[in-house]
Amino acid sequence: MEADTQTMRKLDIKETAVTRARYGRIAPFYDLMEILPELRYRSWRERFWEALWQEMTSGGRLLEVGVGTGKNMPYWPREARIAAIDLTPDMVSRAQRRAEQLGLEAMIQEGDAQSIEFPENSFDVAAATFVFCSVPDPVLGLKELARVVRPGGSVLLMEHVRSKNAILGRLMDLLNPIVLRLMGPNINRDTVENVIQSGLHVEKIEELGTGGIFKIIHARVPKQSEGDEN
Ligand SMILES: C[S@@+](CC[C@H](N)C(=O)[O-])C[C@H]1O[C@@H](n2cnc3c(N)ncnc32)[C@H](O)[C@@H]1O
Repeated sequence: MEADTQTMRKLDIKETAVTRARYGRIAPFYDLMEILPELRYRSWRERFWEALWQEMTSGGRLLEVGVGTGKNMPYWPREARIAAIDLTPDMVSRAQRRAEQLGLEAMIQEGDAQSIEFPENSFDVAAATFVFCSVPDPVLGLKELARVVRPGGSVLLMEHVRSKNAILGRLMDLLNPIVLRLMGPNINRDTVENVIQSGLHVEKIEELGTGGIFKIIHARVPKQSEGDEN
C-alpha cells in the first residue's frame, strides 16, 4: 500500500469541484431519473434503515452523508438528532425542502465527506447510501466518518461495487468513464476494500439482489485499544 493511503491523504479540490458540478447538473432531474431504480431500492432502503435503527438509542446522534434530495428521510429514526450533508448545493436545497414537507427537524447543510466540518466523536452513527461511488477520494471520506463517529459507533453504507464476475467486472471498467461523466458515480469501485483501508472494522456485508453488486456494509469505528492493535 502507498504511504499516502495510510497517512497524508490530500483533498483533490479540482476533482471535488468536478463531482459537485456533475451532481449540480443532474440535481433537478435526479428524482425523475431514479423513478425506475427506486422501485428496486425502496425495499433495500427499508432494510438498511431497519438495521440502522438497531444501532440508535433514543436521542442518539446520526450523520447522513451525501443526503442527495433526501430519499432516505422517510426512514430516518424519529427520536434521533440528525445532521445531513451533501457536496452539491442544489441537492442540499432539495433535501431541505423535503425535510420541511415531511415536518422533520434536522441540520441539513452543504459539506464534503472528505473534510467534514464537525469535531471528532460528534455522532453515534453515520449513514450513506450510494455515495462512496462518487466521493473523489473514498478512503479519505471514510476516514472522516471514522473521525466524527465515536469509538465503537456504527457506520452503515449501502453501495454498488464492481462485480467479481470477470466479464461483468471488465464491462463495468469499460463503461465507467461514460457513466462517471454523464451521471457522477463510479460503477467499478471496490468499496469494501476502501472501508477496510480507512481503518473501519467491517462487521458484516449483506448482499442485495443477485450478482454481488449491491451491498449493505456494516462497519464500526474501532475502540481506541482495537485501533492500537492495527
Ligand atoms: C447517487 S447520489 C445518492 C443520493 C442519496 N444518498 C440517495 O440515496 O438517493 C450521490 C450523492 O452524493 C453526493 N456527494 C458526492 N460526493 C460527495 C462528497 N465528497 N461529500 C458529500 N456528498 C457527496 C452527491 O452530491 C449526491 O447528492
